[in-house]
Amino acid sequence: MLDAMKTTATPAAVLREAYREPDWLVPEIALEFALGPDRTVVRATLRVERNGGHREPLRLDGEDLALVGVRVDGRPAEHRYADGVLSIPLGGDTAEVETVVEISPNSNSQLMGLYESGGILCTQCEAEGFRRITFFPDRPDVLSSYKVRMTADKARYPVLLANGDPVAAGDAGEGRHWAEWHDPFPKPCYLFALVAGDLVANRDQFVTAGGKTVELGIWVREGDLAKTEHAMASLKAAMAWDERVYGREYDLGVFNIVAVSDFNFGAMENKGLNIFNSRYILADPDTATDADYDAIAGVVAHEYFHNWSGNRVTCRDWFQLSLKEGFTVFRDQQFSADQGSPAVKRIEDVRVLRAAQFPEDAGPLAHPVRPESYIEISNFYTATVYNKGAELIRMIHTILGPDKFRAGSDLYFERHDGEAATCEDFVAAMEDASGCDLSQFRLWYSQAGTPRVRADLTHHAGDGRAHLELAQELPSTPGQDQKKPMPIPLKVALFGELTGEKYADRLVVLEETAQEIVFEGIGERPILSINRDFSAPVVIESGRSADDLAFLSAQDDNPFARYEAMQQLMLDTLVAAVAGGKADHAAVIEAVRRTLEDERLDAAFVAEAVLLPTEAFIGDQMLVVDPEAIHAAREALRTDLGQELEPLWRSAYASTAANRFETSPSAKGARRLRTVALGYLMAAGAEDAAALALAQFEGADNMTDRQGALGMLSNSDAAERDRALDAFYARYRSNALVLDKWFSVQALSTRDDTAEAVERLAKHPDFTLANPNRMRALVGAFAANQRAFHQTDGRGYRFLAEMILAVDKLNPQTAARLVPPLGRWRRFDEARAALMQAELRRVVETKGLSKDVFEQASKSLG
Ligand code: ARG
Ligand code: ZN
Repeated sequence: MLDAMKTTATPAAVLREAYREPDWLVPEIALEFALGPDRTVVRATLRVERNGGHREPLRLDGEDLALVGVRVDGRPAEHRYADGVLSIPLGGDTAEVETVVEISPNSNSQLMGLYESGGILCTQCEAEGFRRITFFPDRPDVLSSYKVRMTADKARYPVLLANGDPVAAGDAGEGRHWAEWHDPFPKPCYLFALVAGDLVANRDQFVTAGGKTVELGIWVREGDLAKTEHAMASLKAAMAWDERVYGREYDLGVFNIVAVSDFNFGAMENKGLNIFNSRYILADPDTATDADYDAIAGVVAHEYFHNWSGNRVTCRDWFQLSLKEGFTVFRDQQFSADQGSPAVKRIEDVRVLRAAQFPEDAGPLAHPVRPESYIEISNFYTATVYNKGAELIRMIHTILGPDKFRAGSDLYFERHDGEAATCEDFVAAMEDASGCDLSQFRLWYSQAGTPRVRADLTHHAGDGRAHLELAQELPSTPGQDQKKPMPIPLKVALFGELTGEKYADRLVVLEETAQEIVFEGIGERPILSINRDFSAPVVIESGRSADDLAFLSAQDDNPFARYEAMQQLMLDTLVAAVAGGKADHAAVIEAVRRTLEDERLDAAFVAEAVLLPTEAFIGDQMLVVDPEAIHAAREALRTDLGQELEPLWRSAYASTAANRFETSPSAKGARRLRTVALGYLMAAGAEDAAALALAQFEGADNMTDRQGALGMLSNSDAAERDRALDAFYARYRSNALVLDKWFSVQALSTRDDTAEAVERLAKHPDFTLANPNRMRALVGAFAANQRAFHQTDGRGYRFLAEMILAVDKLNPQTAARLVPPLGRWRRFDEARAALMQAELRRVVETKGLSKDVFEQASKSLG
């Protein structure tokens, strides 16, 4: 049975304020699994201890469990099982409580708890999946040491893995075998994991700074073994990096990773046994793009870093989720920046923040980094908790500086090792170790919304002074009308307009609603460079002229600021074009020309800098989004850029051609620029562009070039388009991860018939509602295609609502993640808004809706 609402009543919200310590603790648990795909029997033995002087019964959470029996201290015991809670009255202060339940892994389509993926039995427990495996206080502040024994068919499940270290294994007779694993580190149940399957391992070792040898294993299906090298190299690099940068060593003798193909999100940091969506493990040049390689390194590092920021120190309750996620995202961003180009990495991270988090913060689902309430916690694994959470940690890092920040993280780990902590504990440790007062900074955790900072620079030639007037405003968000000013760390520099001299370069922390900063000794008109490195997650309104932005895009010594100036220049041009119907492209064309001609810049940076803002981001700048006008304005600018700079695009294209695939950063940068240049040649309408794209597609010896060319062709009407799509399909039809790309490029197409094409693809034999990757590849990508999704007849909205309702029956988490695009109705014209609301209403009124979708859709209606 699914976790559908039993009644039509509104599901109850959980409040942060209502936190209470657990009534009972469970210092030890022993689990015995008799594993089978249709039927698995789970015997759990809990040593429980009363926590405090209350008389409450032991209450254990359970969901979709068939209860076989309950014993207390060896004898059948009185109990009551209702509404997802098993209550057992206990007389003494300690007891041994045993439950036996039956579950069915292969009918578990939610992918929470114990489920089957491609013949492998695996688990996902965060946030509240453990209650689908056995009765337990399913909350992160109950920490236990685990002993796990598994028995399973030997031929079908030759490999049996769980958390911690393997202690014993043997034959169980009748074709079955068993294995036992112990995890000595007390952990909350969301970190429990087991895997049973026919798997092979890429094995390696890592020797810690303390001299301990750790056995590493990346477990996959036999045919995938050759695709695990990059993940293994990334894991070892992450282990060494965490020792060097945070002084954190690995603590068990074994670290295993398992890749599965059906997974609700990226990956999971289960203690000693990470379980991954296979897309974040498997790579070779023929099937994975450079971006895929980077994502693998980032996610492998992220989950590994959780061993300290998440596992050794965990969360007290789910409102503290950003304690582990924000910090760990920050850590993986730092790691990736150190592995490659910090500037390009920062540009990518900011792009993600603006594409996913800013709209969330500006819409009906806006919530603080530390939320105050939820109906379904799975809905709060958001860009706000993860990515804005990481920006908060980054701001603390910027304000304190690296040394004090490190002292703070050392203190945090030392103070709270083995505990379930809060965001407050983290900030307090940073404060105590650094001596910096972060009291006002705490507002960043409690206030939702993206601050807008107004920055005006004036200069008086007479006294050589420049005045920077700063003012902040935090828009109201659902449930929060009154906001207080927050400390906003802004890296600021001033450049002389005539000489190019840098007059000032400093960190300004804007703490008041409005504040003035004076710079002395400036003899010429200064140009303002602000929020360099994106030092604060805010929107800057500076009203800088096209000339000043062009200056910065060519001369700023902060690469991020340089990129940002170009983006602002492009954005101003495009917004003016959408408003006025016609625009002057000259400044943008000139700035792009200078960037392409600047030989000191590396290709990866150039490729980022010359890309126009996405249609969605242009829409975010407007009160009422006009998808057609935005598309037209952006295409017109692309065409102009393509035509005016055609010789430069051609030479960029020619100079980035390679005979042979290489993984070096410069080869990667060249591939990036090559496809960007190809895109501009296509936009220019160059006669040979489609042929060039097809040649790149057919001649490519790597997926980056191949997918890049396919993406460009999928936008076109040329005959080459179908030829390439068909060839791609024929070549990769048996590789699910690559087939996802085939669905995505079509869903992201700028062609007029994309909505129709997507509806057709949803009926394709290779499309399935059961696999979250495939869902996201087609439906998620389509909903992100602004013009196609917002087609005026509303067919995009109808399609999405139908998908939400269909998937909700199988997998509520995946369904709920598709709701937010419909919730953006307030930003569209009346006709579109009405159509979007109608679909949301249809969703909300559907009987048997999950609470996941109910929460997202009802909040979206507002
Ligand atoms: N903790 C996992 C990570 O590393 C993600 C878990 C997501 N869980 C969920 N219910 N969405 O980010
Ligand atoms: Zn995480």
